[in-house]
Amino acid sequence: MAVLAGALTLAITLPGTAAAQAAASAARSVSFTATPGEARGTLVLPLGSAADLESPANGLDEATRLGVERAIASANFSYRARQTLTLRGIGSWDRILLVGVGTASDTRDTQWAGAVAGRTLLGEDGPVTVMAGALPASRVAAFATGMGIGHYRSDLYTSARTGAAPAGPLTLVTDHGAAARTEFEGRGAALVEAMAWARDITNEPANVVYPETFVERTRAAFAGIRGVSIEVLDVPAMERLGMGALLGVGRGSERPPRLLVVRYRGAGAPEGGPIALVGKGITFDSGGISIKPSAGMGNMKMDMSGAAAVVGSTLALARSGAPVNVVAVAALAENMPDGTAIRPGDVLTAMNGKTIEIISTDAEGRLVLADALIWIERNLNPSVIVDVATLTGAVGGALGDDYAGLFSRHDALAAQIEAAADATGEDVWRLPLHPSYAQDTSSTIADIKNSGEGGAGAGTGAWFIGEFISRDIPWAHLDIANMAYGGPSDWKPAGAAGYGVRLLDQFVRDFTPVPRGAANAGQ
Ligand code: BES
Ligand code: ZN
Ligand code: MN
Repeated sequence: MAVLAGALTLAITLPGTAAAQAAASAARSVSFTATPGEARGTLVLPLGSAADLESPANGLDEATRLGVERAIASANFSYRARQTLTLRGIGSWDRILLVGVGTASDTRDTQWAGAVAGRTLLGEDGPVTVMAGALPASRVAAFATGMGIGHYRSDLYTSARTGAAPAGPLTLVTDHGAAARTEFEGRGAALVEAMAWARDITNEPANVVYPETFVERTRAAFAGIRGVSIEVLDVPAMERLGMGALLGVGRGSERPPRLLVVRYRGAGAPEGGPIALVGKGITFDSGGISIKPSAGMGNMKMDMSGAAAVVGSTLALARSGAPVNVVAVAALAENMPDGTAIRPGDVLTAMNGKTIEIISTDAEGRLVLADALIWIERNLNPSVIVDVATLTGAVGGALGDDYAGLFSRHDALAAQIEAAADATGEDVWRLPLHPSYAQDTSSTIADIKNSGEGGAGAGTGAWFIGEFISRDIPWAHLDIANMAYGGPSDWKPAGAAGYGVRLLDQFVRDFTPVPRGAANAGQ
């Protein structure tokens, strides 16, 4: 008990109160106009080709344009999407940032280029003007959205952050201001907010974000949004339902588990029930009794990234009033070793009566998802289920940090997720659910065991999860262990990537019902 009291005191005295953080990380105010204002502060030029600079709508005076052209030639600027070049001493601007946006007409690369620009200009507290005359309205909105996504800091508890000046206003100069604003305010701004929310909750340490506070932050984020209702199952409720797998994972921690359900109803009569998104929400994964090595263990505060992705994408959809029906479920627990923790060799019983032999207490994500999936099938009549989880280190061995692993028994559903990945640039690569994984997970004492003996680690994890869903329900599993968290890059600081927010937002908006029915042969 003394330890618990100490931990609580620590949480209360941490420097980064929510209010201070909100002030320091506040997004720039965004406006769209046809006429450029005063030439001061930072100028951003999104360029796809040399011709873009000549576009009269770019509104540069002759001397500035010539200066920029000379710099482009001498620096060999290529206009490739995400390439940047900073120029100083031209005209009356403090800084001119050139950003390649490529020539593709889609919005994906433009948004990513905007994110790179937003990150590059994090330290600029003066006004920022984007001369976007060469871009159509949807790409102007995408660039503004990207700038908001890139304008994100992960140093939640540094004094540099709490003392940071508020960021200056962002003005986009375009002839398509009305259309761009409608698109940005209708969708982009919500995505910016949702991505920051998902990254913040993932970057927060595990003494701040644990199952109960994950729920509190979710309630705060959705407060007042139309069409949203939130339901939370606590330990007694889960005990009544017999959720032995989820409860088993939570048993070694002082911080009790929760099942969080966020429903958003933005469409009329649902055709075959809502889209169900379910996320692994392990707020800290020590491994439990099968304890992890201590080097790098602190990163396992990110093991709730799947839950952050499903709640975050639902926040983006609900905040923008998207005409969809979606339910996000977060299976929240802390995986800790303790006298009350589950052991290797233990047998747990899931909500549907299926028994599970524990081989490793470190294969805990599939356990919390098992009960969440049974609950979803029994309570939501879902038209489709997508689970998102930082499930295995093995997926990174297969796919590096370029693609999340996608598993599905339903080709038509996998194709829709691949299309959303292509549209957003949050890439996925489909991996097999080979029937041999059934042997890998077969137990001599129980119905199934929670880990195989090496082999296809990501595949056996996916197979285990699939054993808790009826085969006629279209289901896909995304293993995002390799994508969710990492070092700094051109568009994000060290820490959470918010991977899955954009992918799922796109997937849900574009979803067309997949026929229920038999899964692919053998799977
Ligand atoms: N949370 C981990 C997976 C993980 C690893 C996420 C690295 C992010 C980065 C998961 O719970 C885990 O421990 N998986 C085990 C599975 C094994 C015991 C079958 C693993 O990957 O080693
Ligand atoms: Zn884990
Ligand atoms: Mn684990």
